[in-house]
Amino acid sequence: MENFTFHNPVKVLFGKNQIAQINQEIPKDKRVLIVYGGGSVVKTGVLQRVKDALENEVVFEFGGVEANPHYETLMRAVEIVKSEKIDFLLAVGGGSVIDGTKFIAAAAMYEGDTWEIVKSYGSVVKAALPIGCVLTIAATGSEMNNVSVVTKAETKDKLFFGSPFVLPKFSVLEPEITFTLPQNQTANGVVDAFIHILEQYVTYPVNAKIPDRFAEALLKTLKEEGPKALVTPDDYDARANIMWSATMALNGILATGTPADWATHMIGQEITGLYGLDHAQTLAIVLPALWKFCKADKSAKLAQYAANVWDIPSAEEDVMADKAIEITVDFFESMGLKTHLADYGLGEEIIPHVVEKLRAHGHVNIGEKQKITAESAAEILKLAL
Ligand code: NZQ
Ligand code: ZN
Repeated sequence: MENFTFHNPVKVLFGKNQIAQINQEIPKDKRVLIVYGGGSVVKTGVLQRVKDALENEVVFEFGGVEANPHYETLMRAVEIVKSEKIDFLLAVGGGSVIDGTKFIAAAAMYEGDTWEIVKSYGSVVKAALPIGCVLTIAATGSEMNNVSVVTKAETKDKLFFGSPFVLPKFSVLEPEITFTLPQNQTANGVVDAFIHILEQYVTYPVNAKIPDRFAEALLKTLKEEGPKALVTPDDYDARANIMWSATMALNGILATGTPADWATHMIGQEITGLYGLDHAQTLAIVLPALWKFCKADKSAKLAQYAANVWDIPSAEEDVMADKAIEITVDFFESMGLKTHLADYGLGEEIIPHVVEKLRAHGHVNIGEKQKITAESAAEILKLAL
């Protein structure tokens, strides 16, 4: 088991009618900016519920944060924060809105070129405005972590940064809010969370039993409950189990004493940046190909995953590893996620562009053993055609 530091102070308000509690979490004298996305929260009435719950006198709104939030859009919000002397940000939305709000919180207090926040992976951030979240989709875990992913539309650079200053003060998790998700977004969320767990679990054994067994519990929950939510969108228990699994998948608990891969995310991020596929769509394409490419290094954990999550009967490690890859592909496909670039009309021609972006971002020597070079990424993408 490896050394680790674990610190997660995010207060979670989980269950029914939790929005009513946000007035207890935001001091009354704060000037609040509500940040939201393309309008789903207006249609579903969630925004109105939030406004009804707030007891602050000064409340502004900033809508229009797009999926894979754009730096350019977020900088417009930063201007409002400065001109209106906003001192509390309330994100009402999914990972894109929460990530965008984290960026706004840091950028509003940063002197200098704000793209440096992202380029430096967050190391230049020394302060941020306080953030609260009302989560509307179970997927990224952003509601309980310090990571934010921002895209500069002008250059198609999609990059992440992390900083303890942008950890939300609180997050409201009401499973019922996710009843209105379109089927493809429910599936995206389940698959994204599933892959967050796999990126931290399918590496190599270090005898870290707690995160391994947590990972197995979360994976089993998502594989059981994910399909139920597709068939019955208003199944409260399915939605609740999915929501808590997705939050737990990326709140740091699975990174306690284990190595982590994240190469699927690094490669997938470039595909979204360049070609606009949804985040989870890119992961479902890259992960199986990456596992095939790295099978020898990952076979012990792939076999453990096959046995403990999918109940595959014991066999030779290599056979178990192949079964693990196969059954994972079947699961993604059963959730409606495609697993090949060709399914999105993309072919070999994209490979040099993705590799060029990985190089430009210094995302070479990635994966749990830092063995995935730009050349290996090209080979992985060939396996994903
Ligand atoms: O924009 P609106 O109109 O609100 O619609 C959204 C959006 O179109 C819709 N939606 C959300 N909740 C809904 C709803 N529609 C109906 N009812 C609801 N209750 O769903 C669409 C997708 O929303 P989005 O926020 O983009 O989804 P997600 O949570 O998957 O976030 C994706 C972003 O998070 C980043 C991704 O790269 C991507 O930019 N990630 C953030 C991470 C983090 N901060 O830790 C880690 C992840 O790996 C990921 O990279
Ligand atoms: Zn993800």
